[in-house]
Amino acid sequence: MSTYSDTTNQITLATIAQKKRTGAKLTVLTAYDYPTALLVDGSGVDMVLVGDSLGMEALGFDSTLPVTIEMMLHHTQAVRRGTRRALLVADMPFLSYQVNADEAVRNAGRLLAEGGANAVKLEGGTAVAATIRRIVEAGIPVMAHLGFTPQSVNLLGIRKQGKEAEAANRLLADAQAVQEAGAFAVVLELIPDTLAAQITAALTIPTIGIGAGPQCDGQVLVTSDLIGLRPDRPVLKHVRQYARVGEEIARALRTYKEEVESGSFP
Ligand code: KIV
Repeated sequence: MSTYSDTTNQITLATIAQKKRTGAKLTVLTAYDYPTALLVDGSGVDMVLVGDSLGMEALGFDSTLPVTIEMMLHHTQAVRRGTRRALLVADMPFLSYQVNADEAVRNAGRLLAEGGANAVKLEGGTAVAATIRRIVEAGIPVMAHLGFTPQSVNLLGIRKQGKEAEAANRLLADAQAVQEAGAFAVVLELIPDTLAAQITAALTIPTIGIGAGPQCDGQVLVTSDLIGLRPDRPVLKHVRQYARVGEEIARALRTYKEEVESGSFP
C-alpha cells in the first residue's frame, strides 16, 4: 500500500453526509505542514484539519489565541499541497469571525481562495449561528465546534463542558442552531459521553468527537498527540498514543551527533 494517496475517491460534503446516513464512522486528523499532510492524507482519513492548535503544536504558543489569519493561510497552503483525497478544513482563528459577519465571510473566503481549503471551522453555537449562515450563503462549507472551545479558554478554563443539566440543554440547543444555520458537521470537544450521544441522535449532520466518547459519528485527534511527538508532556486522558515518534527522533539525533563526534559518520 502506498504511503501517499491518489486523487481518486475524493472526499466531498456528500461523502460525509452519506457516512452519517449509513452509520460509517468519520475520521479526522490535524496537519500543519506538507510532509504531515502527505502522511495524514495517505492514511485515508476523511478530513485533514489545519487546526488553530497550530499555535501550541507547531509554533510554541501556550494557547490558540495568538494565531492569526495570516499564519493559518501560510500553513493551510502547505497542507493543501500535501492533501489530495481528504476534505481539507481550516480553522478560523481568534478574532477572524467574532467582530462582524462581513469580516467573517472575507476571512473564510481567504482560507478557500488563498489557502486552498475546502471548508472552514469556527467555534460557538447560537451566538455565531447568524455568522455561520452568512458564510454558508457565500458558498463556503462550515464545520462548527462546541463544548470546550479553546478560543474561549479564559472564560471556560480547560475542563469538561455541559456537565450540569442547564449547560447540557444549552449545548443541545447550540448544536441545533449550528445545524439550522447550515453547518455540515460539528466538533464536540470535552463533553460527557451521554450528552454527545444525545446530540448525535438529535442531529442530521455528523458529530465529530474529541474527548466526547464513542457515540459520536466520528473522531478527531491532534496528530502530534496520536504519534507521541512530544515526549515532554503527559498523554491527555482522551488521547490514545499509537506511536512514540518523539523518542525515536531524539534517539536518531543523538546517534548522529555521537557518530560525527566519534568519526564513524560519514
Ligand atoms: O485546533 C484543533 O486542532 C481543533 C481540534 C482539537 C478539533 O480544533
